[in-house]
Amino acid sequence: MLLGVNIDHIATLRNARGGKEPDVYKAALFASKCGVHNLTMHLREDRRHIKEDDVRKVCSIPELKVTLEMAATDEMREFALSVMPYKCCIVPERKNELTTEKGFDVAGENIPMMADNVMPEYQAQYIAEFIKPLFKAGIKVGLFLDPDKKQIEAAKTTGVKSLELNTTAYSNAYGTNMEEEEFLKLKIAAEHAQDLGFEVNAGHGLTYNNVHRMHEIKGLHELNVGHTIIARAIFTGLEPAIIEMKRLIL
Ligand code: PXP
Repeated sequence: MLLGVNIDHIATLRNARGGKEPDVYKAALFASKCGVHNLTMHLREDRRHIKEDDVRKVCSIPELKVTLEMAATDEMREFALSVMPYKCCIVPERKNELTTEKGFDVAGENIPMMADNVMPEYQAQYIAEFIKPLFKAGIKVGLFLDPDKKQIEAAKTTGVKSLELNTTAYSNAYGTNMEEEEFLKLKIAAEHAQDLGFEVNAGHGLTYNNVHRMHEIKGLHELNVGHTIIARAIFTGLEPAIIEMKRLIL
């Protein structure tokens, strides 16, 4: 499995003092030297961590694949087209969430999670239209989804080829009597998505302790890991923290 590293929380720490340190660009350079497959940054509507300038600078690093996590809004799409990341991963954003809480409701059954004027039943259709200019520009597009058959099948109708399955429920259940149930949901969803021809990635909430079970899911392409790596980096430095995660998922 490949490792994608999310560096949002370097920016969280920087923003705590409103200054320049720790430097997000420097962190991206370090991470790229450690041979990560890609580097992820989530530019949220409220800019609570990553800012536009961070994305611009990091996207200019030669050879580095940058994934821009973003809501499905016109503003974000326009920005993405201006910086040309390797990939855009479409995620739902809720105003008061501490972190991304759920996968995108592409099957459109729950509360709409994007532009207010988009009715739930049109979400797959909306996404299909939304991503066309990104594809046209040569940007890869992924969707962040809960491990749910309905969502995966709805995603198939959008034209997206790459999914990231949400591992939050598995991560929260790890070590409890819910672990097996949540793990199986992930495994079944990953297999189903692969049968439908998707590139299947996974992430959110993974840690050094719980990541090992991802090896039990055949064919996972990439894991996206952020908070646990940045948290460890405070004690060990970024490079050893990344290298250890790479060792665990190889
Ligand atoms: N994947 C997605 C879609 C996310 O939103 C995040 C967090 O921004 C991650 C992966 C990484 O999650 P964590 O920081 O818990 O490793």
